[in-house]
Amino acid sequence: MKRVLSGMQSSGFLTIGNYIGALRNYVKLQHLHECFFMVVDLHAVTVPQEPAALREQTESAAALYIASGIDPNKASVFLQSHVHAHAELGWLMTTLTHMGELERMTQFKDKSAGKDSVGAGLFTYPSLMAADILLYNADLIPVGDDQKQHLELTRDLAHRFNNRFGDYFTMPEPYMPEVGARIMSLDDASKKMSKSNPNPGSYIAMLDEPSVIRKKISRAVTDSGREVKYDPQNKPEVSNLISIYSHFADMSVAEIEAKYEGQGYGPFKKDLAEHLVAVLEPIQQRYREIRASGEIFDILKKGAEEAAEVANATLLEVKKRMGF
Ligand code: ADP
Ligand code: NA
Repeated sequence: MKRVLSGMQSSGFLTIGNYIGALRNYVKLQHLHECFFMVVDLHAVTVPQEPAALREQTESAAALYIASGIDPNKASVFLQSHVHAHAELGWLMTTLTHMGELERMTQFKDKSAGKDSVGAGLFTYPSLMAADILLYNADLIPVGDDQKQHLELTRDLAHRFNNRFGDYFTMPEPYMPEVGARIMSLDDASKKMSKSNPNPGSYIAMLDEPSVIRKKISRAVTDSGREVKYDPQNKPEVSNLISIYSHFADMSVAEIEAKYEGQGYGPFKKDLAEHLVAVLEPIQQRYREIRASGEIFDILKKGAEEAAEVANATLLEVKKRMGF
């Protein structure tokens, strides 16, 4: 049995990109391995968050984990901020990280582009992410393609620590879906879909109402052609919609292309919206029940206790090795 660790930022409400790239895999992995799934609220504040909004987004993400099928008796579900070892090992990892390594991170370049003031936490974010993973000596990290570079840095830091302080950390491996590791924005297929995009039309949130989903899909950018064909190079917008379709309808790209041959984008988009609604509506129903019951607070408390037991033991050993 391997150990699995992953998390989502509560910097907005979860999108179908988070669902396809990561959350769906969490649900699968909980049956096979020992799993720790957190909401990384300390990462969310690397860009400014309004306190009430942060609290709501964090609770919402945790409830969506459960609504999507994570069983809190199988996996530990918790908030990063509830387990203090994250911040402490995060600091120690920051001291092992080179400035040049952080400067090379494409997520930092993307998120800081065009801003005249950027918080230092946005820059050191990957060191905290390394701590998140290494605290649990996790083997498998279910992430989307956008986190690959951060995960490579985590491995470099684990190597660096092991070389200086003696072999201790496990080398984490990414676990990614084959198709859909990167779902793109609905308004611009050159950017990944993200919950922190200021334009809500750029993403489908997992909690979007059916009418909103239909509207967003009907307005999603395509091209001036009419062929439903998977060709990411020349038809990036349509290809992105096909890969979303493929995940939500559980159909292959070839099956989808054949189904809409000679029909143009209209019927394809209409069906895509219905497939999204069919998968998301029952999740939304469970979500409302979970929020109404208040059970999420007990789940998070138990999850944090389970996580802290592992994390505190790691932190203690790391500090001993480093000379504290
Ligand atoms: P966001 O950009 O939506 O704030 P996070 O940084 O919270 O995303 O990422 C949470 C998880 O979801 C990570 O594993 C990440 O790789 C995955 N993920 C985020 N956006 C996408 C996307 N557009 N396509 C596939 N996976 C994604
Ligand atoms: Na984000």
